[in-house]
Amino acid sequence: MVSYKELGFSNTKRMFEVALERKFAIPGYNASNLEQLQGIIIGCGESDSPVIVQITQTSLKYINKSMVRYMGKGCVEMANDLRYNIPIALHLDHGDSFELCKSCIDLGFSSVMFDGSHLEYEENINITKKIVIYAHEREVSVEAELGVIAGIEEHVKASDHYYTDPEQVEDFVNRTSCDSLAIAIGTSHGAYKFKVEKEEDIPELRFDVLEEVRKRLGKFPIVLHGSSSIPQKYVNLINEYGGKVSKAFGIPETQLKKATQYGVCKMNIATDSRILFTAMIRKYFQENIDQFDPRKYLGSARQELIEMIKKKNKEVLGSAGQAGYI
Ligand code: 13P
Repeated sequence: MVSYKELGFSNTKRMFEVALERKFAIPGYNASNLEQLQGIIIGCGESDSPVIVQITQTSLKYINKSMVRYMGKGCVEMANDLRYNIPIALHLDHGDSFELCKSCIDLGFSSVMFDGSHLEYEENINITKKIVIYAHEREVSVEAELGVIAGIEEHVKASDHYYTDPEQVEDFVNRTSCDSLAIAIGTSHGAYKFKVEKEEDIPELRFDVLEEVRKRLGKFPIVLHGSSSIPQKYVNLINEYGGKVSKAFGIPETQLKKATQYGVCKMNIATDSRILFTAMIRKYFQENIDQFDPRKYLGSARQELIEMIKKKNKEVLGSAGQAGYI
């Protein structure tokens, strides 16, 4: 058992206080390999942004638990080596049980999410509460979820969308004492967020629901899952270089930016990195048919990820330049 403090992580408490005060969102970037982790740390370090590194249950299995702990510690040490002074949280994304959340806390995570959104309301409350008690004894943050976010996120699959009911949020937060709440306002997981033919037809998120939740919760951290914008540049590259991804659209950056002004202080981004990696590696292979060094093709994707993250932090989330306030 190890505390996240020994590994050099921060919990999300101070990050969210500052983000709410200064109206920006902390990026929750998902990673499942070394190059994504490096890209996240360098991208956030170079833009002076706090960051939440997110690992799902399937990535935990893919990488190996002990490896995650030491790769996580490696993120902190790499940031120190490069003289980045940014707070880094290690977060379990979409935990589905008390046992899993507990094991991640014991492994050194500084924040966990329990996703009980598919459960009956009372059951969601009971399990979230149990996790909060264990986590808070160790100063670990807990994110909970109310309302179902459609789409596919690894082991989480939901075909239907249920917007968060603003009438439930106060009761849920008071009874669970969770530290932040993910709500459903029209975003979804994965690359196929909308059944539309073109970008212009993407509907608006339910800012009315967000506003109502905000009114009821006051200055409480609200989390937006499914916040990839699916840059068409990478979708086009995939298709141009032999792939087949069609009608993949994300949340327009203007809407994400607007959400930061309505109390959303964390945005989860996983698919953009996957699309980018696939695009860059496909391009690399076709343009360099005689190459076979993983450092070359993964390195080109990593560099592109660094640039994308810097741009997002600066132009969309507003987290660039904020690390010093935390
Ligand atoms: P995207 O699929 O939009 O990247 O969302 C990821 C997410 O919400 C992880 O929890």
